[in-house]
Amino acid sequence: MEASSKGKNRRRGKKRRKASGNQPPEASVDVSEQAPSALTSKRRNLGAATSSKVNNPTSFLDKMRARLSGGHFRMLNEKLYTCSGNEAFDYFKEDPELFSVYHTGYQEQMSRWPEQPVNIIITWLKSRNPSLTVADFGCGDARLAKNVKNKVFSIDLVSNDPSVIACDMSQTPLESSSVDVAVFCLSLMGTNYPSYITEATRVLKPGGWLLIAEVKSRFDPNNGGADPVEFSEAVKDLGFSLVSQDMKNKMFILFYFRKKERSASARNINWPELKACIYKRR
Ligand SMILES: C[S@@+](CC[C@H](N)C(=O)[O-])C[C@H]1O[C@@H](n2cnc3c(N)ncnc32)[C@H](O)[C@@H]1O
Repeated sequence: MEASSKGKNRRRGKKRRKASGNQPPEASVDVSEQAPSALTSKRRNLGAATSSKVNNPTSFLDKMRARLSGGHFRMLNEKLYTCSGNEAFDYFKEDPELFSVYHTGYQEQMSRWPEQPVNIIITWLKSRNPSLTVADFGCGDARLAKNVKNKVFSIDLVSNDPSVIACDMSQTPLESSSVDVAVFCLSLMGTNYPSYITEATRVLKPGGWLLIAEVKSRFDPNNGGADPVEFSEAVKDLGFSLVSQDMKNKMFILFYFRKKERSASARNINWPELKACIYKRR
């Protein structure tokens, strides 16, 4: 964002916050944060905060806590986008509490999206045979499993629920050719994301579906994002056909692939880099 427009936006603070619901997540605003460079307004705000502290101590503490956890969430989010799945797994293993911090922040961000991709995937599954077995790679709070009748293998780095398999999703304990649908809903975060899709290819039955929902800006070549055609060509090289691609949502893109009956020998696939989805400090 340009420095001048930053200033304008700061002056229009209230308006901008309201509009942030329609921004991609990395551009969305953590309402608990102050603009870092606005020293004078920071001082003014601090003064206001101190006097309101006297009048309303709980609200002051809540704001301070929210600001700290907002910063913590951004740090964890950045970590997940800039390390490998293996590193992320070890990181959360050391302190599983951090996973809850990440997910509280993530849900807060998602609450501003007009539509969540996981709900589109739930609707898609509900319109199909409930006997289809599903693997939800990077399931988060396992909302998918909780909302469909299908057998769902929910996979994530940490398991806060006995039904969730805790592992790095590039190496799951699932059997080869055992699932009908593999889902990645905003979860291609690690720097080694192609290995997650390769693992999904292993566990999918021939003819199985691969559904990928990702933040739209990661697929905006005009803005440093990957070319969606290059991405789908790479997935096709792995042995899939692209059935459809849904670009109509402002916040995310959805790919529907189907695994070919005969597997391809996947060598030297040209995977585009998927840029990290970093939340800016406000
Ligand atoms: C942005 S959240 C999305 C959660 C859920 N799919 C949704 O749509 O609400 C991405 C999830 O992917 C998980 N994840 C990222 N890398 C992973 C990995 N290598 N192995 C397992 N889970 C991973 C994160 O822990 C996080 O819970």
